[in-house]
Amino acid sequence: MCGIIGINSNKPVSATIINSLKKLEYRGYDSAGIATLSSGLINEIKSEGRVDNLEKNSLVQNMEGTIGIGHVRWATHGSPNSINAHPHSSQNVSVVHNGIIENSTLLKKFLVSKGHKFKSQTDTEVIVHLITENLKTENIVSSIKKTLKSLHGSFALGIIFKDQPDLIVGARRGSPLAVGYGPNENYLGSDSYALKSMTNKITYLNDGEFCVIKKDQVEFFNEEGIKINKKVLEVSSEEKKYEKGDYKHFMAKEIEEQPTTLKNGINEYLDNSNNNINIYNFPWKTKDISSITLVGCGTAYHSCLMAKYWFEEITTMDVNVDIASEFRYRKNRFKKETLYIFVSQSGETADTYAALDLCKKNGMKTCAVVNVVESSIARESEFVLPIHCGTEIGVASTKAFLGQILILYIFSLKLGLLRNDLKKDVFIQKLKDLKELPKLVKQTLLTDNKIQTITKTFNEAKGSMFLGRGFSYPIALEGALKLKELSYVHAEGYPAGEMKHGPLALIEEGMPVVVLAPRDNHYKKTISNMQEVIARGAKVLLITNKSKDEIVSENIWETIEVESTNEDLLPFLLTIPLQKLAYYSALKKGFDIDKPRNLAKSVTVE
Ligand code: F6R
Repeated sequence: MCGIIGINSNKPVSATIINSLKKLEYRGYDSAGIATLSSGLINEIKSEGRVDNLEKNSLVQNMEGTIGIGHVRWATHGSPNSINAHPHSSQNVSVVHNGIIENSTLLKKFLVSKGHKFKSQTDTEVIVHLITENLKTENIVSSIKKTLKSLHGSFALGIIFKDQPDLIVGARRGSPLAVGYGPNENYLGSDSYALKSMTNKITYLNDGEFCVIKKDQVEFFNEEGIKINKKVLEVSSEEKKYEKGDYKHFMAKEIEEQPTTLKNGINEYLDNSNNNINIYNFPWKTKDISSITLVGCGTAYHSCLMAKYWFEEITTMDVNVDIASEFRYRKNRFKKETLYIFVSQSGETADTYAALDLCKKNGMKTCAVVNVVESSIARESEFVLPIHCGTEIGVASTKAFLGQILILYIFSLKLGLLRNDLKKDVFIQKLKDLKELPKLVKQTLLTDNKIQTITKTFNEAKGSMFLGRGFSYPIALEGALKLKELSYVHAEGYPAGEMKHGPLALIEEGMPVVVLAPRDNHYKKTISNMQEVIARGAKVLLITNKSKDEIVSENIWETIEVESTNEDLLPFLLTIPLQKLAYYSALKKGFDIDKPRNLAKSVTVE
């Protein structure tokens, strides 16, 4: 999953390409590169690490050329060094690529036999040589058509040609790609966000399509190389600047913003005057939906799992959850009466998008829960429930997680009411409690010092475990994910009741174990499980909610008490100390909190 940009202008393009690459860094930050055409030659400059490194290169600062392409990389084939960084160029052609070419080994063999020499370990370089080879006998359009047909896998491509001073080619299969229109210049980009500072007029390419971008004209082609017409869409021109302000990291800011983002979400969906929930233009009759399948990846998958517990509690529907990368390859029994919900902050996650595509091809009802409303998943779904939590920059999702579970909770209440599964007075009480949630989250955010002091134990341990039952189980998974992705220490989330079936063997003297035991239905059982790990030497951090009843357990290492509210809403509050635990652990280690190693904010490869 990488980010690509292309600009064809009558002004020098390198500085603008660099600025756009900074916006695409959420897609990958292993290395970055740029290629422009000037004086009839392709100039290519690449560097390891962030776009900042590339920008500092004095050669980039003096780079000439009014047409160029740029790339930020998240390594798939070949280590993240400057040789494997994109663009990849022959004498005649330069290419940036987002995706994976699955038959690159075979293609490389063929190209080597034709005398082509390879410089990198990437799959992308075969595209460069294939085009170069095809250009020997074909014109631009048919060489592109022929090249694309030879490629297996997924790609979004930006291509420039030494002998074509007014032309960028863009092509898409699987990975997203957009064209933007400006005054006497046109653009290519992985998303509208990267293009927004230049234009709000956008065309999205569909799978199999490619385009030829000139300064004053853009032509589109289908996979047969036949010209097609495409719509120009106007996206919001609002380009809100999202800065860290006084915070050390975006993640810290995003954690602290949660009372506000939750309030925004609540205000968007709750109708205070009528004690109801507004979900407009819902395209189906509720009687036509008897089950729900929720699909997502990573943190978004944890949101799906959280929603399963709520939907099952609040409605009488059957609920399934699935990890997108598994869902898309299984033999699903698609059912007309099922609503398929795709949860994704970015709306660009390749596996989630593919799962959505599969459902659409099978004629299913599709709904997206997204943060980025102009994203591919939002555009392709029949119905969209935006989470309204604003830009999230930290790679580790925080406010988007609470935003996703908030909207899924609200949706479960609405469906519960419409289906008569939930009595009106209970519904009204739940709305009342929900309105108090931002305030409770704000209070819970004040628990800070204690978390800072315990991070050392987590950082120094061989590993840690996060346990919960019922509503707390998805939160345990999320807490463990946050800690491992930021602090690079092993952490495992488990249903507390499952420990004795194997994982208990991991517990040894001094091992930190987080036990989520709010005063809900599961409290006593979870406390018993907690005793089982304490008896085997674990250092337990108990996270519960405030209560007048004392905690009846001994030998607990540390306790954190979040605010109290109804059982449904406790997962929101339990999440807060876990986010902070991960944040402070990484801070203590001096790690790059907003851009953890090996990760990217948007995962556009499978
Ligand atoms: C973890 C995290 C990831 C994402 C996952 C899906 O903190 O952020 O696990 O949740 O990559 O991304 P989206 O939500 O954009 O589909």
